[in-house]
Amino acid sequence: MLSEKMFEALNVQANRELYSSYLYLSMSYYFESVKLPGFASWMRVQAGEELVHTMKMLDYVASAGGRAKMLAVESPRESWASPVDAFQQVWDHERAVSGLIRALVGVSEAEKDEATKSFLQWYLDEQVEEEESSDNVLNLVKAAGNDNSALQAADAKLGQRRFKFPRGFEIFPYAASLGLTIGSLKR
Ligand code: FEO
Repeated sequence: MLSEKMFEALNVQANRELYSSYLYLSMSYYFESVKLPGFASWMRVQAGEELVHTMKMLDYVASAGGRAKMLAVESPRESWASPVDAFQQVWDHERAVSGLIRALVGVSEAEKDEATKSFLQWYLDEQVEEEESSDNVLNLVKAAGNDNSALQAADAKLGQRRFKFPRGFEIFPYAASLGLTIGSLKR
C-alpha cells in the first residue's frame, strides 16, 4: 500500500497530465482556426498521448489500493500569435512537466516507495521523447518563419503523425480491437 502522500502527489500529477491534454486540444482547435490542419492533427495526437499519461497514472493509483481523483482542470489559453508561439509553449510546457516528474520521483524516494519509483521510470523516458519531439517541431516552424510554402510543407509533414497506444495500454480496448483509434474517425 502506498502512503497517502504518494497517492496525493500521483493524483495531482495525473491532473497536470490531463491539463496537458486540454492544452494540446486547445492548440489543435487554434490550428484548425488558422487553416493548418496538419498542425491541428499533430496536436490532437499529442492530446491523446496526454490522456494516456493521465489514465495510466490514475490506473496505477487505483490498482495500488488508492482512490483515483478527478481534480478540477485548469482552462488553457485559446489562441497564440503564431505557430512558433504555440510550439514554444509546448516545449516550455514539456520541460516543466519533466521537472514535475522528477519531483514526483523525489517524493517516491522520500517515502521509500521503490514500486512507484520504478513505475515513474516510464514517465521519465516518455519526457525525454516529448522534449525532443517538441524541440524538433519548434525548430521546424522557426525555420519556416513567415514563408507560406515552407509552412505548408511543415503542415503536411506534421499531419503524417499517427497515434499509437503504448505497449500493453489502451484507453478503449473494444474500439482498438476494431481498429478505431483517436483521430481515426475524423475526416
Ligand atoms: Fe505527459 Fe507531455 O507530459
